[in-house]
Amino acid sequence: MKAARFTESVIREMTRLADQHGAVNLSQGFPDFPAPGPVKDAACDAIRRDVNQYAVTWGARRLREAVASDFSRRHGVPVEADAQVTVCCGATEAMLATMLAVVDPGDEVVVFEPFYENYGPDAILSGAVPRYVTLREPDWTFDPDELAAAFSDRTRAVIINTPNNPTGKVFTRAELEVIARLCHQWDVVAITDEIYEHIVYDGRVHVPLAAVDGMADRTVTINSLSKTFSVTGWRVGWAISPPALAGAIRKVHDFLTVGAPAPLQEAGAVAFGLPEDYYAALADGYRRRRDVLVGILERSGFRCYAPHGAYYLMTDIAAFGFPDDAAFARFLVTEVGVAAVPGSSFYHDPAAGRTKLRFCFCKRDDTLAEAERRLAGLAGRRQSTTR
Ligand SMILES: Cc1ncc(COP(=O)(O)O)c(C=O)c1O
Repeated sequence: MKAARFTESVIREMTRLADQHGAVNLSQGFPDFPAPGPVKDAACDAIRRDVNQYAVTWGARRLREAVASDFSRRHGVPVEADAQVTVCCGATEAMLATMLAVVDPGDEVVVFEPFYENYGPDAILSGAVPRYVTLREPDWTFDPDELAAAFSDRTRAVIINTPNNPTGKVFTRAELEVIARLCHQWDVVAITDEIYEHIVYDGRVHVPLAAVDGMADRTVTINSLSKTFSVTGWRVGWAISPPALAGAIRKVHDFLTVGAPAPLQEAGAVAFGLPEDYYAALADGYRRRRDVLVGILERSGFRCYAPHGAYYLMTDIAAFGFPDDAAFARFLVTEVGVAAVPGSSFYHDPAAGRTKLRFCFCKRDDTLAEAERRLAGLAGRRQSTTR
């Protein structure tokens, strides 16, 4: 049975444990601060106006047009709302619908690891055979030869996530060009998860793979309202695909979910109208929170790999001397009262994540301050605990 080949989400399990133990939840990546007022008002208004029935299965026209014109304006890549945009129940469904549509059982799919944990089950459900390529700390770079060796005439797709969860890596244009060359050479579709596109720091620039020369015709760009507008519970995301792939993605999407919530799609169209300084404030707020969390964790004895994008922080926990990441995460949530995600859940071979732990910082200042209070004293365990 397919479902026997993957486990329950470790991230969502950590959230349940955090609730059970009254822990500060720095595991699952959802903001604990309010969504933008005008976006919430637009949702309430849409419900009152009785936008309460099924939207067009591939998405409300206003939202599809907003998605298409925003992408074209920002990245100079023409996108046609009718032919290319499919609105789904979050990036989660957009990714699975795309994989089911594009990949035949037995096809190989190249996946960078550490990876967002959904990609493993997505590969299993679509029958894909994953070929992993490692991003190596501290900079999370990949070896171009290792990447080239992962491609062959069996490769159907490559999954890229930039800015990246869990590492915070922002792929450079040069790195994307290396990937693009291999996609051309082996006639491969790129599926790129760009859900953190507006959360970049340190002068890094988000480059969509579809904007790299020749890639618009073979790239499916996945994104969502979840992170940009702090509405992870709304479940509205989308895939921008070449027209030739849209029909297949739409068919799969229709039979998976029929459609995303209609009133929230209307509100999504309004969200795209927020002024440009909204995005600057979003990134700046997260940059500040990153700096706060790096400070807290370093003072508590963690080695931090400070991210350049997204809102997660990978740490090294070897110095604490626990048997593995799961044992340390359990100790943290039950004894210290702070929840984080064991690094092994981001690798196909759990051993690769054994000394890693991921924290998120999409949290209010007082939430981070409470985490700091609870973590105080942990630094003393660094030397005292032995393996
Ligand atoms: C890389 C990545 N993709 C997708 C998702 C899920 O997105 P959505 O809420 O739009 O389904 C997440 C959530 O944490 C994520 O980190």
